[in-house]
Amino acid sequence: MSTAQSNEVILSGIRPTGRLHYGNYFGAIWHFLRLQQTDACCYYFIADYHALTTITDRQEIYRATLDMLRTYVACGLDPEKSVIYRQSDLPCTAELTLLLGMVTNIGHLERGTTYKDKLAKVQDDPKIAGNPLSYGLLGYPVLMAADILIVRADAVPVGDDQRQHLEMACDIAAKFNHRFGEVLHIPRPLGRDALRLPGLDGSEKMGKSENNTLDLLDDPQTVLRKIKAVPTTTDPLPLDTDSDAPEVVIPKMPPGVGVLYRLLSLLAPEDVYLEFLGQYRAGGKFYGALKKTVAEHVSNFNAPIIEKYHDPANNDTSIEDFLRENAKRVTPVALETVEACREAMGIGRSLYRA
Ligand code: TRP
Repeated sequence: MSTAQSNEVILSGIRPTGRLHYGNYFGAIWHFLRLQQTDACCYYFIADYHALTTITDRQEIYRATLDMLRTYVACGLDPEKSVIYRQSDLPCTAELTLLLGMVTNIGHLERGTTYKDKLAKVQDDPKIAGNPLSYGLLGYPVLMAADILIVRADAVPVGDDQRQHLEMACDIAAKFNHRFGEVLHIPRPLGRDALRLPGLDGSEKMGKSENNTLDLLDDPQTVLRKIKAVPTTTDPLPLDTDSDAPEVVIPKMPPGVGVLYRLLSLLAPEDVYLEFLGQYRAGGKFYGALKKTVAEHVSNFNAPIIEKYHDPANNDTSIEDFLRENAKRVTPVALETVEACREAMGIGRSLYRA
């Protein structure tokens, strides 16, 4: 992916969906960890306002948010290096959403692919979670624009599925600036798609709603059970290239086998990966051994994350503590942006804020 430049402001958010899976890790967290090592200023938040569009159980939102944060920390995200916060701890985001709404065209929102997909799903199944006809769901991209613009992000790491939302955020900002003056800073995308993982069922994408995930907190028995269930055929498709690059291997293999090799290429030492690749080329019967090896590497990868997740120091209280501290770090920047927008639009600074 393209990399951050010195002192850039990076921002990304993830909705609290409960347990984090390998798709989340290699699609997002892995990049967050890398960016955390640079001198970029990183803001990562849990999008609990956004979750309100689909989660209706109030206990679940709170729990899922804290569990995600515990997993973040267990993966190595450091709340002292990166500013890790909860979206709703920055309520001025809601005010900015309201202001941006004034320059947002309804037709633009209605053409959003995520919105259209949701709408189509509901027409098929009216009992689906959340209220798809809500103002909140239609306005999802405006809230996301506010998240990004409020911290004056330079770059936003997004997967393919969020790219259109980011473009909408840039359009909204450009429109605001055109009408009210150069107030908002327009960000650029940081691509992160190279490592998109297929699902364990061999389908294109690993996702919670597809129910095909390998989770970071899966214990060794669960890992083994899930890996054993990955569909493999006994007839390898011929590899029509000599390249050993994993990106090239995936499309040439039956989908389930492709997932196993992708996991192996990410987790195992290169010689192990190349040895299995050699076996694939030779067309032997080796899927049992391959699955066992993949499962071992996955369990080894999970072990320290599970341990840190359950570390008594990584508890709800310590999470709440760093959330409070980090909300304080991000609030001044955010308020400055909101106040600048208010002034530009003519309602002036708030009398109640310091
Ligand atoms: N919509 C994103 C998702 O579903 C989460 C998100 C909310 C986000 N606000 C954001 C991502 C701002 C990047 C920047 O994954």
